[in-house]
Amino acid sequence: MLRKEQNDLLTQTGPGTPGGRLFRCYWMPALLAGELPENDCPPVRVKILSERLIAFRDSNGRYGLIDEFCAHRGVSLWFGRNEECGLRCAYHGWKYDVSGQCIEIPSEPEASGFFNKIKLKSYPLVARGGVLWTYMGDPAAQPPLPEWEFITVPPAQTYTSKRLQENNWLQAMEGGIDSSHVSFLHRGDLNSDPLFKGAKGNQYNLSDARPVFEVVESPGGLYIGARRNAEDGKYYWRITQWVMPAFTMIAPRGNHPVHGHFWIPIDDETCWAWSFDYHPVRQLTAAELSAMRDGKGIHVRCEPGTYRPAANKDNDYLIDRAAQKAGRTFSGVEGIRTWIARRKTWFRPTTASSWRGIGSSAP
Ligand code: FES
Repeated sequence: MLRKEQNDLLTQTGPGTPGGRLFRCYWMPALLAGELPENDCPPVRVKILSERLIAFRDSNGRYGLIDEFCAHRGVSLWFGRNEECGLRCAYHGWKYDVSGQCIEIPSEPEASGFFNKIKLKSYPLVARGGVLWTYMGDPAAQPPLPEWEFITVPPAQTYTSKRLQENNWLQAMEGGIDSSHVSFLHRGDLNSDPLFKGAKGNQYNLSDARPVFEVVESPGGLYIGARRNAEDGKYYWRITQWVMPAFTMIAPRGNHPVHGHFWIPIDDETCWAWSFDYHPVRQLTAAELSAMRDGKGIHVRCEPGTYRPAANKDNDYLIDRAAQKAGRTFSGVEGIRTWIARRKTWFRPTTASSWRGIGSSAP
């Protein structure tokens, strides 16, 4: 178990924290591009790493991610008017461009130039692969734009969704790199979910519930191997990739699309779970896209107009005791990505020996 200080060190990501400095070294997914669908569309509230921000798209199609609150008297710019290349505060009309620079204070004499002295905090917001990415760190240390394969393949080969996950990013990511729970929690889904079924590896997930873990370090993260017994004395390996700071990619199943996640802290207790599916060499089929939009595979059906899963902690994840008893699902909760860790995070040291034999870390 982690001590409280260790848990705090890893899960507190606000400004000035060690964990926050780590996340601020990387480009992170901030919004789906579809959340800002056209020039001068309504602004969108964004909370990442405990910072409250506003995203908007100006009249020229430029994206901005700026402090949510007006520099004058702190009114939320979510109520502002997005017009003529800027976001105008609804209270006294101060107007900001996508860099957070104030460009007009209509109550001041035009010649005063006072607006030049006003600038809100801002971060870059860049569209790539249907996702708007931000970098919240030192501008002088800004890394190259993200090049994840799922955002560089043609649009017809990739699909991304996001959802609110009501636990901290580390609890969420822990589930993303834990292969052992698949043999239990997801055993009912392996042979029924349209984005999982039919893969030969499923049978080994079901027949060997005691995987042996081997972890290999790489310059950017870890390769986490789970070894299960197959036939004729052979092994079945599943290799999950973890890339700093919070990216995980799950081993593929047969010819199904490849998938994985980003776990981006909203604050110290909740996170955005980003789920991507893509195929490196072919388009996604209509059936696959339909299943993803319907919350199958690693995606989740959300409450209408929100990113909160329809099955959530307030309704006990819509548990179906009859399905649980009949074995249609192991947990009684439908869906692969609905389940959420409720206990305190623990995280074992990342050496091969310390991971070997872990077989019960189900979320
Ligand atoms: S509070 Fe925004 S212009 Fe006054």
